[in-house]
Amino acid sequence: MLNIILIGPPGSGKGTQAKQISTKYNLKHLSTGDILRNEVKNQTPLGLQAKSIMDKGELVSDEIVIGMIKNFIDNATGANGFLYDGFPRTVAQAEALNKMLQQKDMLVNAIIFMDAPEKVFIERMQKRAEIEGRTDDADINVIRKRLVEYYEKTFPVKEYYEKYFTNAFHTINANQEVENVFNDICKVINNL
Ligand code: AP5
Ligand code: MG
Repeated sequence: MLNIILIGPPGSGKGTQAKQISTKYNLKHLSTGDILRNEVKNQTPLGLQAKSIMDKGELVSDEIVIGMIKNFIDNATGANGFLYDGFPRTVAQAEALNKMLQQKDMLVNAIIFMDAPEKVFIERMQKRAEIEGRTDDADINVIRKRLVEYYEKTFPVKEYYEKYFTNAFHTINANQEVENVFNDICKVINNL
């Protein structure tokens, strides 16, 4: 079973790439953002709790997110592994994932860091606001807050993997055409 993590700032293209990669390699696509948005849409107790946090551009609690992922790992069948998109986003989440995988005799096989200048992400999110209507894309202040959360809490996750999973860590230039980013990610996965 493969466990591949896509990590990068909001708007770096994690979701776009995850859809194509998970199809090509038959991986279960685990997007914590999509799962949470689905809960919001269905107005579940979790969704009602998460909505105000997401609309502010802040991170939902580690406890909630780790519980969601555990549920998916425990119940997944029929795939070649998992592709994590938007998780782990804190060092506590990364450590919890290590533990969950160890219990199942698995490990993180690759961490793919989506790198590009900040300006590119902001423009993509503003464009997406018009297309998809995501509430957290509509307000530049919320976009900025998401970036602050990223630099404070998620960038240390990138550093954590770079330090402790050096051989599994790969940086991809996310500032290219979707197809070229996809090809670069495939090269990494084909070598696993
Ligand atoms: P989440 O849904 O994970 O959002 P995010 O990290 O802010 O990332 P995005 O989904 O905005 O961007 P992306 O990298 O997927 O880019 P995309 O492919 O869409 O999280 C949302 C919220 O949920 C969080 O703020 C938090 O509250 C909560 N949450 C989620 N996970 C959590 C966790 N683990 N812990 C705590 N809280 C959590 O691309 C962006 C746009 O650019 C699209 O329009 C796309 O078409 C376009 N595009 C993509 N690639 C290219 C390219 N190469 N060239 C040109 N355009 C491109
Ligand atoms: Mg996404």
